[in-house]
Amino acid sequence: MVKLITSTQELLKTRSAETEVIGFVPTMGNLHAGHISLLEAALKDFDHVYFSIFVNPTQFGPNEDFNQYPRTLEKDLKLIEDLLINYPGKEVVVYSPKHPQEVYTDDIKNRVISVKGLKDIIEGAIRPGHFDGVATVVFRLFELVKPYKTYFGLKDYQQFLVIKRMIQDLNLPIMIQGMPIIREPTGLALSSRNQYLSPQQKEKSLLLNYGLKQIEDTLAGDKLNIPVARELITKLKNDCNWNYLELRDADTLDEDLSSSSKVTILGVYQLGTTRLLDNRQMELK
Ligand code: PAJ
Repeated sequence: MVKLITSTQELLKTRSAETEVIGFVPTMGNLHAGHISLLEAALKDFDHVYFSIFVNPTQFGPNEDFNQYPRTLEKDLKLIEDLLINYPGKEVVVYSPKHPQEVYTDDIKNRVISVKGLKDIIEGAIRPGHFDGVATVVFRLFELVKPYKTYFGLKDYQQFLVIKRMIQDLNLPIMIQGMPIIREPTGLALSSRNQYLSPQQKEKSLLLNYGLKQIEDTLAGDKLNIPVARELITKLKNDCNWNYLELRDADTLDEDLSSSSKVTILGVYQLGTTRLLDNRQMELK
């Protein structure tokens, strides 16, 4: 069964009447197989799952696509209903607040959760304030939904680290699971923004995943290969479509890898106004 809740008052009333532990998947909607993989993981763990659909204004910069972001609630609900056919007896509560004021009530609208250290680098350096917006809304959603466990896609790897660090720093009693990137058969990571790409841009977008794979293959899990992997990164960055392409520690995102046992390669490849994110993690010996 799918239940739709559009007001915070109703959400709080519903949650306070429940005793069972729940899983929670926050999204901005316009669902694709990436989002659905998170929901399926939650449905495997819990009978009762909360799923939010909220295009959060505070994580968009002034020149970003907040107004154009695709809002497709009816279609999203249908996808969830279809999925639930495979999970008889389970319930998904979709929290889709009608107005931002439902989430940012007067008493908390000036409150900002800021995860120092991770929020201003890499993606955060290009999108000032973005991770404050993400951490603030996710904290608020946690406060309202009170989940036992939450599911985040590794596609937004820095976002996953920001939320994991927020949970640790604030001692929130919430488990977080990072979920593998779901891709198109070509290797392009699924994203609500892929629909903005022209056929030529779609073809060009394959250079993103290909570039990351080349770096991973060069690194081959061996610290001794770090300098040659970094040389390759410099060479690849001659293509000015890269917003960034970085080899970092997988937990701290530090550039210094001398004591790293796991690394991440993070890339954003921009085609027109569409920024495509991707990443890969690997162990290092
Ligand atoms: P949104 O972009 O809708 O993504 C919701 C969740 O789906 C995130 O955890 C994201 O990493 C995951 N996801 C997206 N594409 C994926 C893919 N191809 N494979 C696996 N997982 C994928 O991320 C946000 O919304 C917002 O910032 C949010 C956390 C909801 C806060 O507003």
